[in-house]
Amino acid sequence: MRILLTGRTGQVGYELERSLQGLGEIVALDRTQMDLADLDSVREAVRNVRPDLIVNPAAYTAVDQAESEHELALRINGEAPGVMAEEARKLGAAMIHYSTDYVFDGSKAGAYTEDDAPCPINAYGRSKLAGERAIQASGVAHLIFRTSWVYGLRGKNFLLTVRRLARERDELRIVADQHGAPTWCRTIADTTAHIVAGLCMGKKNLVIDHESWLARSGLYHLAAQGQTTWHGFAQTILAHEASGRKTVVTPIRTQDYPLPAQRPGNSVLSCERLIGAFCRLPAWDAALRLCLNGHGESNANKNCEMTSC
Ligand SMILES: NC(=O)c1ccc[n+]([C@@H]2O[C@H](COP(=O)([O-])OP(=O)(O)OC[C@H]3O[C@@H](n4cnc5c(N)ncnc54)[C@H](OP(=O)(O)O)[C@@H]3O)[C@@H](O)[C@H]2O)c1
Repeated sequence: MRILLTGRTGQVGYELERSLQGLGEIVALDRTQMDLADLDSVREAVRNVRPDLIVNPAAYTAVDQAESEHELALRINGEAPGVMAEEARKLGAAMIHYSTDYVFDGSKAGAYTEDDAPCPINAYGRSKLAGERAIQASGVAHLIFRTSWVYGLRGKNFLLTVRRLARERDELRIVADQHGAPTWCRTIADTTAHIVAGLCMGKKNLVIDHESWLARSGLYHLAAQGQTTWHGFAQTILAHEASGRKTVVTPIRTQDYPLPAQRPGNSVLSCERLIGAFCRLPAWDAALRLCLNGHGESNANKNCEMTSC
C-alpha cells in the first residue's frame, strides 16, 4: 500500500510518519514538494505518487492570522483537500483528513457530536469546514477526524508556550472560560494508524479493504477524553515542571485577552462514534503525563496502551 502523507513537519504529520511505518510505503511530501496553496501542484503530486491512501494533516493553522489571510486559509484548508479527494477518488484511493473543534460556535451546553450543525465563528473554522464539505462532496472513501487543542514536544503549541513563559515570568494569566480537551499529537497519529490497520487486508502487503472503508467512511471526533480549560491545562503542565521557579497561573476571562479571531467557549467533542466504531481514547491528563514523562520525543509507536489501540 502506498501512503501519501502531507504536513510531515507539523505536529501530527511528524508523528504520523512514524506511526504509519509498517503499514505501507510512505511518501511524505513537504511544502516544497506539494504546496497546498497551489492547487495544480496538489493535483500533479497526487497523480505522480498514485497513492492507495492519502493522509492529510497539513493545514493553515494560524488561527488569528487567518482573519487577515482568509483567502489563503480557504485555499489550503478548504480547496486543496477537495482536490486531493477528487484525485483520490479517480485513483480508487481512500483519504484521511483532520479537522477541528473550531467548526462549532461553542454555544452548546454539552459535548458536540458529529450530528451537531457546525457554525464556525472565525475564518480558520470556516476554511476547515469548507475542507470537510469538499471531501464529503467528492465521493471518495474517507475518514475525517475532528480533533482539538493539539500539543506535543515539537512545533508551536500551548504546552511549549506555557513552559517557556513560566521560565521567564512569575505570573501567567490564562483564559479559564474556554472548555476543551488537550490532545497529544501522538494520540492522534497512533489512533489513525490503528484504524488504518483495521481497514486493510493482507498480512505482508496491506491493501485497502474498500468494503470496510466505504462502510466506515465519514466524520469522527478524535480527541482525548475529559475536559479542562486553558487555565486548567496550564496548571497541569506546570505541576509536572520540576523547575525551582513557582509561577502563579491566574484565571482570566476571554474578554480580558482579546485576539483577532474569536474562539468557541465550548470546544468539547463527544468521541462516542469513533470509540464505538474503532477504539478507546485516553484521558487528556493521562496522555499529557505520558508526553511530559519523556515519551514525547522517542518511543513512537510504543504507547498503544495509552491510546488504547
Ligand atoms: N493545532 C491544533 O491545536 C489543532 C486543533 C484542532 C485541529 N487541528 C488540525 O489538525 C491537523 C494537524 O494540525 P497540526 O497541529 O499538526 O498543524 P501544524 O503543526 O501547524 O502543522 C501544519 C503542517 O501543514 C503544513 N503546511 C501548511 N501550509 C502548507 C502548504 N501551503 N503546503 C503544504 N504544507 C503546508 C506545514 O508545513 P510547514 O512546516 O512548511 O509550514 C506543517 O507541516 C490540521 O488539520 C489542523 O487543522 C489542529
